[in-house]
Amino acid sequence: MIIGVPKEIKNNENRIALTPAGAAELVKRGHEVYVQAGGGSGSGFPDEDYISAGAKMLPTIEDVYGIAEMIIKVKEPIEPEYKLIKKGQILYTYFHFASGEELTNAMIANGSICLAYETVELPDRSLPLLIPMSEVAGRMSVQEGAKYLEKTFGGYGVLLGGVPGVPPANVLIIGGGIVGTEAAKMAAGLGADVTIMDVSLKRLRYLDDIMPPNVKTMMSNEYNIRAAVKNNDVIIGAVLIPGAKAPHLVTRDMLATMKPGTVLVDVAVDQGGCFETTKATTHADPTFVIDHVLHYCVANMPGAVPRTSTIALTNATLPYAIQIADKGWKQACIDSEPLRKGLNVVDGKVVYKGVAEAFNLPYHEASSLL
Ligand SMILES: NC(=O)c1ccc[n+]([C@@H]2O[C@H](COP(=O)([O-])OP(=O)(O)OC[C@H]3O[C@@H](n4cnc5c(N)ncnc54)[C@H](O)[C@@H]3O)[C@@H](O)[C@H]2O)c1
Repeated sequence: MIIGVPKEIKNNENRIALTPAGAAELVKRGHEVYVQAGGGSGSGFPDEDYISAGAKMLPTIEDVYGIAEMIIKVKEPIEPEYKLIKKGQILYTYFHFASGEELTNAMIANGSICLAYETVELPDRSLPLLIPMSEVAGRMSVQEGAKYLEKTFGGYGVLLGGVPGVPPANVLIIGGGIVGTEAAKMAAGLGADVTIMDVSLKRLRYLDDIMPPNVKTMMSNEYNIRAAVKNNDVIIGAVLIPGAKAPHLVTRDMLATMKPGTVLVDVAVDQGGCFETTKATTHADPTFVIDHVLHYCVANMPGAVPRTSTIALTNATLPYAIQIADKGWKQACIDSEPLRKGLNVVDGKVVYKGVAEAFNLPYHEASSLL
């Protein structure tokens, strides 16, 4: 198959959808890989690395879209890319269709085959192509929390791990899923006194079994959260209720009870946030202060570490890309139920229920098109 990897053109997006190692795997299987020149530079992959891996470089985005049977990307196509997409072309990338009506209509109109990373789903209902970014954001949340706890950044002025004779900082993590677990591991490793809250007792039991002794678990409810926010130096929001907005678990009135310079990191900002005072920020201007409490609410945290994120993403997406390239999208989706769930729009038809419902569009069973 002829595979194209364009440079991402969305503002501040430095990731690329394929590493040189990924390109080598596809080339080894007899596929042709075309990468846009300079596409990997933001992730620290120079063109020469792709060339040594057997890929060919093309100078413009038009060339890449023009030649490819399958485009592998990171972010959803944006308006300047719409006209480059051809009927029948496979697009394998994050789409988040349900929050983009214009994007959905554009992909219906162009007749492409849209396989969305975010809806590829394993039988246990986990989302294997979202997990790597949650891992990055979870680990990063502690790094950011520790940084903004420093006085010069407006924090309370506490070192996360303390020193001999001085107790460590207290870190509260609300939500013990992927983000929360990775955050807890990092905070515990730095020596903080960590509490994870979740509503799932099963999850709390598991976390209690695997976490080191400086991590405690606690049931998430308003009473416990209200008491805990008074004493914690960093509070990380990591809840997810699939398909719904995040609940506001830390309310505005609780801010007055926190220590001045407490740092709130709301990783769940992309689902509306689990703090009432959350509003999305960017890497260029990541924080704001309300009632002496510092808020960090960057919606695309992995964007700050594009090299790690690119490699983590490719590790997860490549096995499916290989299946699509080896067998063609139809056979790959017949053989793999997880991949079939990634189909969102096929040849002008919406085949993912949530997207059809979001925009009141006719829904077609994906299997009827295979
Ligand atoms: N900002 C970013 O850059 C970024 C990056 C990756 C993920 N995220 C977001 O982080 C959030 C968490 O993702 P995840 O992969 O860890 O999800 P997950 O499904 O693995 O975990 C969510 C956890 O929240 C728990 N939960 C639900 N309601 C709760 C409540 N009331 N109190 C406490 N816990 C509750 C669930 O039981 C579950 O364990 C999502 O909103 C995701 O979109 C943001």
